[in-house]
Amino acid sequence: MDYLQIKKTNPLHGEIKISGAKNAALPLIAMTILAKNRVTIKNLPHVADIKTLLKLLSNLGAGCVSEWGEEASTTIDTRTLTQTKATYDIVRTMRASILVLGPILARFGHCEVSLPGGCAIGQRPVDLHLKALEQMGAVINIEAGYIHAIAPEGLHGCNIIFDKITVTGTANIVMAAALAKGVTTITNAAREPEVVQLCEILNASGVKIEGIATAILTIHGTNGALLEIEPFSVIPDRIEAGTYLCAGAITRSELTLKNANAKHLGAVLSKLEEMGSKFTITENSITIHPSEVIKHVKIVTQEYPAFPTDMQAQFLALATQADGTSIIEERLFENRFMHVSELQRMGADISLNGNIATVNGKSKLSGTDVMATDLRASSALVLAGLVADGVTSVHRIYHLDRGYDSLEKKLQAVGADIQRLRE
Ligand code: EPZ
Repeated sequence: MDYLQIKKTNPLHGEIKISGAKNAALPLIAMTILAKNRVTIKNLPHVADIKTLLKLLSNLGAGCVSEWGEEASTTIDTRTLTQTKATYDIVRTMRASILVLGPILARFGHCEVSLPGGCAIGQRPVDLHLKALEQMGAVINIEAGYIHAIAPEGLHGCNIIFDKITVTGTANIVMAAALAKGVTTITNAAREPEVVQLCEILNASGVKIEGIATAILTIHGTNGALLEIEPFSVIPDRIEAGTYLCAGAITRSELTLKNANAKHLGAVLSKLEEMGSKFTITENSITIHPSEVIKHVKIVTQEYPAFPTDMQAQFLALATQADGTSIIEERLFENRFMHVSELQRMGADISLNGNIATVNGKSKLSGTDVMATDLRASSALVLAGLVADGVTSVHRIYHLDRGYDSLEKKLQAVGADIQRLRE
């Protein structure tokens, strides 16, 4: 297995190009199940989760022709889809496979998807997805670890109120509603930029959607008519961008991110400013001007546009280098502090009390062998390695490869002493 070896790095300098957003590309790939034409998706990130979902679609009979060069893209033809069962072997490796449930059910009237199961950061149930589909007319049974869904009369529009804001739940129901008969409203919808892009592409493809980017979506279904979807590019990955901004802050480096959309990073930029950084922002770039002294901070993770849970681990690593005590509260997932024990082994002074981490900085970190436990925890350990004395080896980086496109190459290009080695 691969691992990353990182040594303390003098300030970084230069530019990093941000890739397409994994969490936008996943629902957009599932959305092609609603199309009557071949759909071309550009600016795909080179990450494992995208390749996994494309493999799933191929297993179902779709044609996927992908280019994995610098500008990665794929052309998906779902006219040849014959299967409607997403099997455990794929779903267990990527729980976002649940995103095919809504579109397949809407198009074919039946679908079987392996229950995704939990993951390291939490139980991650899909009850809200299923309850909403039942309201739309689906009959759903859970048997032998699979979701068996049928909609003999097709799906019909209705008023859905999500008990909790769910990103992939909103995406799934928007896609199901796109082909349904009648109008669906979703109250308490997710407003993440990734959900917004899905709605915008559907809206441009003949599905009238009102309230895009708000908490109340109204989707006018096509009553089964498939969609003509023009080629489009995936939006930039705001979490990748936020991660590299933290790299600039923690190493006191001036870095410029190209293809980054600052409008998607309001809460993250605001917290970095609170900690002392300043920014130069243009239409599609962000330059961080870090402070020598990092100020402590208080963070509570919430749904967009508030501070994202996917940036919690990276800020916790940064907070170990801040002067004073930082408080970081994780409100979305019940087990998203597994990076804490690894950071403590590097010398960080962190205490956990339920879902609140208290970080006493500034800690002197020492490199050692550490283990990645989930996608964003992995990047937090890399950030710590950039400022730790000695050598930090981050193991089990298959977690990292699920969601970061060429992370070590992008950091090497701005001067980081980081390399990918084989165990
Ligand atoms: C999406 O996961 C992202 N993944 C996650 O990013 C992200 O952390 C999360 O949204 C929150 O922003 C993708 O978009 C592929 P949720 P998702 O449904 O949709 C509870 C990463 O690092 N819930 O918004 O699975 C759930 O347990 C990944 O890129 C239910 O109770 O998250 C959680 O507490 C990690 N029942 C909360 O809602 C449901 O049916 C938010 O979950 C659905 C969710």
